[in-house]
Amino acid sequence: MKLPAIDSLDVNGKRVLVRVDFNVPLKAGQVTDDMRIRAALPTIQHLLDRGATVICCSHLGRPKGKVDPQFSLEPAARALADLLQKPVRLTEAANGPPEDLEGMERGDVALLQNLRYDPREEANDPEFSAELAALADVYVCDAFGAVHRAHASVAGVPKLLPSAAGALLHKEVDVLSRLLGGPEQPFVVILGGSKVSDKLGIVKNLLGKADSILIGGAMANTFLAADGHDIGKSRIEAERLDEVKQILAEAKEVGVQIGLPNDVVVATEFAENAPASAVDVDRIPPDSMALDIGPNTVYSFSEWIRVAKTVLWNGPMGVFEWENFAAGTKEVAKLVAEAEAFTVVGGGDSAAALAMFGLEGNVNHLSTGGGASLEFLEGRPLPGLEALNKGGGE
Ligand code: 3PG
Repeated sequence: MKLPAIDSLDVNGKRVLVRVDFNVPLKAGQVTDDMRIRAALPTIQHLLDRGATVICCSHLGRPKGKVDPQFSLEPAARALADLLQKPVRLTEAANGPPEDLEGMERGDVALLQNLRYDPREEANDPEFSAELAALADVYVCDAFGAVHRAHASVAGVPKLLPSAAGALLHKEVDVLSRLLGGPEQPFVVILGGSKVSDKLGIVKNLLGKADSILIGGAMANTFLAADGHDIGKSRIEAERLDEVKQILAEAKEVGVQIGLPNDVVVATEFAENAPASAVDVDRIPPDSMALDIGPNTVYSFSEWIRVAKTVLWNGPMGVFEWENFAAGTKEVAKLVAEAEAFTVVGGGDSAAALAMFGLEGNVNHLSTGGGASLEFLEGRPLPGLEALNKGGGE
């Protein structure tokens, strides 16, 4: 996919509206993980170095079209100011107001208040797009995490201004395209997380591309049930059983190995301190549920990961936030970090797991996109990329 590059834009002395994804976790008014803010710095710095005035805009959380102080971008503005070591002006509203941006000069930086305070953002309202576009001369999208949303700041504004993709967006698209376009083999995909419905699109799209797809986390329960195992009171998505059975049959036909757990760590209740024990998948007691993959599964997954030349990991193997059920995710994180392969990790939970185990610096690419990276890997067209490709403005 060829996206317009920033260097195709004349930004000297211009106001540049930069759509970033500063949807970051907060606690007590502080940003607790600034990965997404740091990831946007190269583009912001590049624009400042070329004489631009930078006006960033982002959503934060889901305030449902209303002003709600708990979703204020103020902590993100502070974090950005610290990282850039310069003041960042935070506007009162997402569409400016234009007076809030008065007197800004080249080299100055502003952040518009949460786009989703205005219901017209998510409605992709052309009037709102026009109000945002009126604040700037050119537009740069660097919000990979939001390009799957057909929202005004992502899909509307690039139709109205000369537009380009920022450095982060280019990098994300390049890396994920490499996975879809014949990566070095063996290509091993590790999927986990709670919802099987979120991941079936990826499994289907990667069936013809991956050599093996290893499945853990709660989503594995539905696969195990579809494969005929009695999984006690583990949670499954019963309405997806037929689809999963079809996928298993199709995988067999095309010769892709689907690696399911052969043992799991179970407990009788979904509770942090519930006593845990590892059992074979054919010996899950009727009163127990699987909350992690077991050590034998880690071993069999390791055999695949050790020989891989390309690895994609998305989704934890169990309830890794709880010590009793963290081992599977921790071991897989280590295997991915140590793999002699091109390693890509996507999804907020896997990134959080890597960070929790101090391994985030040990993978080749840590995607800033959760839903966006999933939809990209499903092969779906993403509204933010489509809008940039069609271009506008000029
Ligand atoms: C994300 O965190 O995945 C992106 O910022 C998109 O957020 P959303 O799912 O609320 O649209």
